[in-house]
Amino acid sequence: MIRRKNILFSFDQSIESQHLYRYLKDRGFSPILVEGGTADIIYQTSLKRPDLLVLYDSPPDIDVHEICKILKGQMDTQSILILVLDGKDAKAEKLEGFGLAADAYASRFLPVEELYAKIYSLLSIRELQLQLLESEKFAALGRLADRIAHEFRNPLTVIGGFAYRIKKKKLNDPVCQEYVGRIIKEVNRLERIIDQVTEFEIPSKGDYEYVDLIELLREVAEEFKACIRKAPGREIEIEIPENAQIPLIHANRQGLQNVFKNLFENAVDAIPEGRKGHIRVLTGMDVGEGILWIKVKDNGIGIPPEELNKVMDPFYTTKPYRIGLGLALVYQHVRDMQGRVEIESEEGKGTTVTILLPLILKAPLPSHQR
Ligand SMILES: Nc1ncnc2c1ncn2[C@@H]1O[C@H](COP(=O)(O)OP(=O)(O)OP(=O)(O)O)[C@@H](O)[C@H]1O
Ligand SMILES: [Mg+2]
Repeated sequence: MIRRKNILFSFDQSIESQHLYRYLKDRGFSPILVEGGTADIIYQTSLKRPDLLVLYDSPPDIDVHEICKILKGQMDTQSILILVLDGKDAKAEKLEGFGLAADAYASRFLPVEELYAKIYSLLSIRELQLQLLESEKFAALGRLADRIAHEFRNPLTVIGGFAYRIKKKKLNDPVCQEYVGRIIKEVNRLERIIDQVTEFEIPSKGDYEYVDLIELLREVAEEFKACIRKAPGREIEIEIPENAQIPLIHANRQGLQNVFKNLFENAVDAIPEGRKGHIRVLTGMDVGEGILWIKVKDNGIGIPPEELNKVMDPFYTTKPYRIGLGLALVYQHVRDMQGRVEIESEEGKGTTVTILLPLILKAPLPSHQR
């Protein structure tokens, strides 16, 4: 199964083009039609950055070679897949040698099922390539981070231990007390980072078991509510679904707890002081797709659109004193459970993080639903 991908579709009046367009729509894709010629297509593709551009060769308005050459020659658009419908000619072969040609060519007169299969396989291969790249990147970073974390842990324990002993001696000098207090605070902060980094290397520690998701969400939310109550002037509500009719999920309990801890923590961080905070959790199933979804919605400051695709990168953070591993860990835990993570956000209004996990229909129902 592939995620629904964005497809840009060059406008063509032919019956076969309309047929393919409708066929894609009926199968859950939302192709976007681009009217106009070569320049419009290049402009719209650079702007919308689709996963695939389906390009009908319709000279003289549409010059597919020019479009491929420009899009494949630009860093930010070169990874966009291009399928040219109408076959190949000598010029395309020349461009192929320079890596500036389309990714696939086909005749527009092929049966629509065959064209659909071609599109589907192009998108599936690209998805696999991206997943592979992503997991290699994560694994390499994880190994590096783990090594550094281990080197830091021992000296930190020593520094923290001695600072704690000095503090207990109750020195008369208040400045000295303050300095020691700061050393302890910073050591605690670094220890938290080391814990995160080590978890990053081995996120799937812990056994798989049947987990009552709602119960788990309540436990994590209670912990958070206790912390929020301690923070003066903060008013944040966390809402967990009351009567969710979802089966137990087969998951790593500790991993799942960490996923929601990180999501709640980010939501709390995003709600500015003075604003009444609202964190809503929604759950549901898509039986046809075999998916169980959990949404964590907040009314925080949101994420600017140009930053949205960076937030899951390890070490990306906009917060002072944080390391930026929370969402990378969420991604890793969820991927270990064969799921995926999606993020939508509107600046100033809030963010929704959706966790999609495989639905096991035969799983037992939680005790309150039996
Ligand atoms: N719910 C959210 N609302 C607004 N911005 C968010 C939200 N979740 C994540 N972000 C943005 O994504 C960045 C990365 O999040 P992530 O959880 O990975 O790291 P962090 O919270 O900065 O640090 P850490 O989780 O390691 O303590 C955040 O710094 C923030 O800018
Ligand atoms: Mg975080």
